[in-house]
Amino acid sequence: MFGVGNPEADLMFVGEAPGADEDRQGVPFVGRAGQRLTAFLDELSLPREQVYIANVLKCRPPGNRDPQPNEVAECSRFLEAQIRAIQPRVLIALGRHAASLLLRRQNLTLRNLRGRTWKYEQAKGNVAIPLIVTYHPSFVLRREGDDARRGVKRHGPSEVHEAVMTDLREALRISRASPR
Ligand code: URA
Repeated sequence: MFGVGNPEADLMFVGEAPGADEDRQGVPFVGRAGQRLTAFLDELSLPREQVYIANVLKCRPPGNRDPQPNEVAECSRFLEAQIRAIQPRVLIALGRHAASLLLRRQNLTLRNLRGRTWKYEQAKGNVAIPLIVTYHPSFVLRREGDDARRGVKRHGPSEVHEAVMTDLREALRISRASPR
């Protein structure tokens, strides 16, 4: 499964790997996590067709397990080529797996990766693109589910939802301020 969206997108999202729904439909981010990603975009008044969405892995890991290093290594050249082709103004890593591949750094926590603008660099094609890291929509769903089970009362959007929106607003701001 390759990617979906506008080949001239200003914003390019990178997720982890297709899940069962994506596997069935051949399109990234169409299941529950995808619907949440679309909701984030709606809140920014960004049609999904205007952005580009891809994954680190191009195939679904059996049983939805975490990607293995050899799988990431096999698939990463496709993602690198996609980034060179799209040349977005800003890249958004959804979660730890995308962030550690795009930053070529392991063992970082999302908490430490959020809240600053990184640079994604590729020697090939002389690529240097601002990179924002945020929570994966599946993590947002999981966290909200945990809160609901613990009886946490909420009025309005959850903290983790707001955190993602803050990150995405920043990505949008940078994309509108930076030349291509
Ligand atoms: N989660 C991902 O990381 N990617 C998808 O395409 C769907 C769910």
